[in-house]
Amino acid sequence: MGTPFTWRSVLGGLSAFCAIAQAQTPSPSPTSSTAPQFTMPPEANIAPAVIPNIKDPQAVDAQTVCPGYTASNVQQTASGFTASLILLGNACNVYGTDIDTLSLTVQYQRADRLHVAIVPTHISAENATHYIIPPGYLAEPEVGESNTVSDLEFSWTNYPSFGFEVTRISTKDVLFSTKGTKIVFENQFIEFKSGLPKNYNLYGLGESVHGFRLGNNYTKTYYAADAGATVDINIYGAHPFFLETRYFTEGPDGNLALVTSDETTPNSNYTSLSHGVFSRNAHGQDILMQEDSITYRAIGGSIDLYFFPGPSQPEVTKSYLTTVGLPAMQQYWTFGFHQCRWGYTSWAELEDVVNNHTHFDIPLETIWTDIDWMLRYRDFENNPVGFDDESSEGFIQRLHDGGRHYVPIIDSAIYIPNPSNADDAYPVFERGNEAGSFLTNPDGSLYVGAVWPGYTVFPDWLSEGTEQWWTDEMVRYHQITGYDGAWIDMSEISSFCVGSCGSNNLTLQPVHVPFALPGEPANPVLIYPEGFSKTNATEAASASAARASWSSTYPTISVTSSSYLRTTPTQDIRNGALAVAAISPNATHADGTLEYDIHNLWGHGILKATYNSLSTIFPGTRPFILGRSTFAGSGSYAAHWGGDNWSNWPSMIFSIPQALSMSLFGIPMFGVDTCGFADNTDMELCNRWMQLSAFFPFYRNHNILGAISQEAYRWSSVIDASKSAMAIRYQLLPYIYTLFHHAHTKGETVMRALAWEFPHDPSLASADRQFMLGPSILVIPVLEQGATSVNGVLPGLIEGEEVWYDWYNNTVVPVPTQANSTIPAPLGHIPVYVRGGSVLPLQQAGLTTRDARNSPWDILVALDKDGSADGNLYLDDGFSVTPNTTLYAEFKAQNRKLDTFIQHGGWVEENSLRNVTIWGVEQTKTIKFNGHPVPLKDVYFDGNKHTLVVSGFKISAWAGKSWSLEW
Ligand SMILES: *[C@@H]1O[C@H](CO)[C@@H](O)[C@H](O)[C@H]1NC(C)=O
Ligand SMILES: *[C@@H]1O[C@H](CO)[C@@H](O)[C@H](O)[C@H]1NC(C)=O
Ligand SMILES: *[C@@H]1O[C@H](CO)[C@@H](O)[C@H](O)[C@H]1NC(C)=O
Ligand SMILES: *[C@@H]1O[C@H](CO)[C@@H](O)[C@H](O)[C@H]1NC(C)=O
Repeated sequence: MGTPFTWRSVLGGLSAFCAIAQAQTPSPSPTSSTAPQFTMPPEANIAPAVIPNIKDPQAVDAQTVCPGYTASNVQQTASGFTASLILLGNACNVYGTDIDTLSLTVQYQRADRLHVAIVPTHISAENATHYIIPPGYLAEPEVGESNTVSDLEFSWTNYPSFGFEVTRISTKDVLFSTKGTKIVFENQFIEFKSGLPKNYNLYGLGESVHGFRLGNNYTKTYYAADAGATVDINIYGAHPFFLETRYFTEGPDGNLALVTSDETTPNSNYTSLSHGVFSRNAHGQDILMQEDSITYRAIGGSIDLYFFPGPSQPEVTKSYLTTVGLPAMQQYWTFGFHQCRWGYTSWAELEDVVNNHTHFDIPLETIWTDIDWMLRYRDFENNPVGFDDESSEGFIQRLHDGGRHYVPIIDSAIYIPNPSNADDAYPVFERGNEAGSFLTNPDGSLYVGAVWPGYTVFPDWLSEGTEQWWTDEMVRYHQITGYDGAWIDMSEISSFCVGSCGSNNLTLQPVHVPFALPGEPANPVLIYPEGFSKTNATEAASASAARASWSSTYPTISVTSSSYLRTTPTQDIRNGALAVAAISPNATHADGTLEYDIHNLWGHGILKATYNSLSTIFPGTRPFILGRSTFAGSGSYAAHWGGDNWSNWPSMIFSIPQALSMSLFGIPMFGVDTCGFADNTDMELCNRWMQLSAFFPFYRNHNILGAISQEAYRWSSVIDASKSAMAIRYQLLPYIYTLFHHAHTKGETVMRALAWEFPHDPSLASADRQFMLGPSILVIPVLEQGATSVNGVLPGLIEGEEVWYDWYNNTVVPVPTQANSTIPAPLGHIPVYVRGGSVLPLQQAGLTTRDARNSPWDILVALDKDGSADGNLYLDDGFSVTPNTTLYAEFKAQNRKLDTFIQHGGWVEENSLRNVTIWGVEQTKTIKFNGHPVPLKDVYFDGNKHTLVVSGFKISAWAGKSWSLEW
């Protein structure tokens, strides 16, 4: 395929580096092992900067110069209508070529989903992927019955040009409106804009590191980038979905009045309505949130919008997740604690780490390796030094015997061997190349970028043989080292040089990446993380080296305004160019699709392929995959972590809004590198963070090469803090697992924002320094260095409608007089509350989830102000995609009686019931189990704490019958 657009080739075809490489370095003798390794010059990763048009004072405003469209030829369909949109006057060709005829389709697809699509009327096989996501790549939103009844109304106008509006019929509230603005649709530029209420509450639009409520002065850029967990820029994933929540007060006439002020106090007179909008466009784009509007600007694709009426957040989320794909169910063991670091050097060291956790009584479920396990950073080959094939067998066996697991990193790029060095064989590449699995240049030659092992090629998920080749390699490697899950990294897809930089340089292989690895001699800049002891010179030096070389991965391009490329993309992307830190837009897929058109989908492709691989290796078992780059729907395949964060307090703070956003995106299995990835952590930060992450679904400690060790056992205070938080987590495992069952089957969320659980309280709209785990657990972490208390909100207390119990002392928290209360939280203590009205099935803490799962049950009933509570429990074998047997139990407490309703799906639970604990009991009468009095010796009542504990049950917990307890 040719290069239809000049700037595509400008960005993609830079060969500056090739010239540099050839001029500076004579090719080393291919067989000489003493020749110094060639290091790519840093210039290899620099491309000319482009100025995004939102930052370009001279950028032409498409709204001013473009003509818009006019609708005609309206045809009713079974579930909506279609129309033609014709360019209304002369083309503006502002950032591309205007498309003169578009097709509009409006379809009421389900009661909870309205679809509005605008695509070019004339597309061909050759240009389809410029506009439409390749069919089959993502889950296709299925369409329900025709003539569905919806609370959404679509209306449109041709004056002054075509614009449309989506209204909530029941409230006449306009949710989205392009009326009065122009639709701009060019081959490389699309713009449309909707008004929004003042002070709107918009959430989602990720992946980003940003406050939870996005604010009205923020541009979200979409272009998957290996850019660390950096605040406010485009990072690893693309989820162009938002939730908007509007708060109303009810007037005397019963009409709702929109609240547009941030100054609100919680009271029961407020109500809120939420809706969702998903833009199914995988192209690079900027979404501009401004004072009273939202503007979409994409460099391709189409207008492909899905509106979800809600009207509650859970309903919006369910509608969205049943559109893009429900989250994968995870295996029970994945909820245990995971330990990783870049810098573990051998199987023996991994085993030491495991044994050290046991020695200090710290639960550990899974040990992970970063790229250290690989021979020369090449996928699927163990480094014989430290990670030899033979020893891996015993290592894995001992892990599994102990109920533990192993997950290695797997990189996305594949090393391409030196063609003139027969010793440089890499069969993984040869087999993939034979299967036609790799991306090419437009001329058909292999596209050769660079990642850790040197020059690399990149799998092409649109090529027919690629998935099979990938699975074969995963299977082959699993036969050598029996890993339990896969950690997919660098999948943005990252490349450390601009363009196909290795094409003419393969005889230099293996080359060194164009920066020093952490710990390698670099140019140390002494920057200390907060709280880091400057007296520890060795640690300081290693941290600085780590930091210096880490930042150099992403050179900041100094630009002067004269050197910008103007008239090109609209995007506010990191480093100013699409080709930096990622493969270039002209990398070509087997069917001719350019990377430009599907860049944001690469990460989703490898997750799907890896899911199939693990399904082959472990038939019938839920694959466990941790993926870095994700797209809408990736949660059906994988878990996700927050990427390369820093060992500092802001990174810990941002982990909460990151997780809440991932809840909206359907990736509930989320967590961040606990204690921080880059730079040295310190005792206090790690202490607080190990406690915070214990309440995130995915719980892993991980750090960078060269930084100080940060396993929990490195500091005695962190040992204690970790054990105390982990004890709660492990007791709650049945609850967390049940939450995942609801997420997987119904699209419920696991980690929740306060705004979602307390929709009548506008003062919680921005709350992202505390969160709920499911409906019942409230966590108020300390996020500030040196603090011994934390300001937190116990929602609902002002009106007295909620009761909160302190997890640690089982008592009701006294009602504070203000919304914000100061909660004592010395180092090592994380405030955790149980919401009155909850029934929590608990098991005992253990060193592994296997131990915990084989322990007796407790049931905790936390009564609300009316003396009621409910809850539920889902159980199965913990790993099967389609379990043969399951169990679902519901608990309902009211009028001093707890009833359990057990629906057997054949699951036989062997573990006995130990205690039933009831919080909030004022007084007791005769305690009866199934109508029979319970002997006094089995009853404990603390009238001061209002706590009743009943024990002595002679049943296995869920033996088959529903049962009741009266007090
Ligand atoms: C796509 O290609 C076809 C055939 O080459 C052409 O007729 C059509 O105008 C193109 N469509 C767009 C929107 O560029
Ligand atoms: C919007 O953000 C920009 C950059 O972050 C800042 O300079 C500007 O002052 C902000 N505008 C308003 C109205 O807050
Ligand atoms: C709620 O509304 C009622 C009637 O409109 C009013 O009397 C009352 O003061 C309001 N409550 C609060 C807490 O604002
Ligand atoms: C295990 O713990 C001991 C004692 O704290 C420590 O000296 C050693 O470095 C640890 N080993 C590993 C691999 O973490």
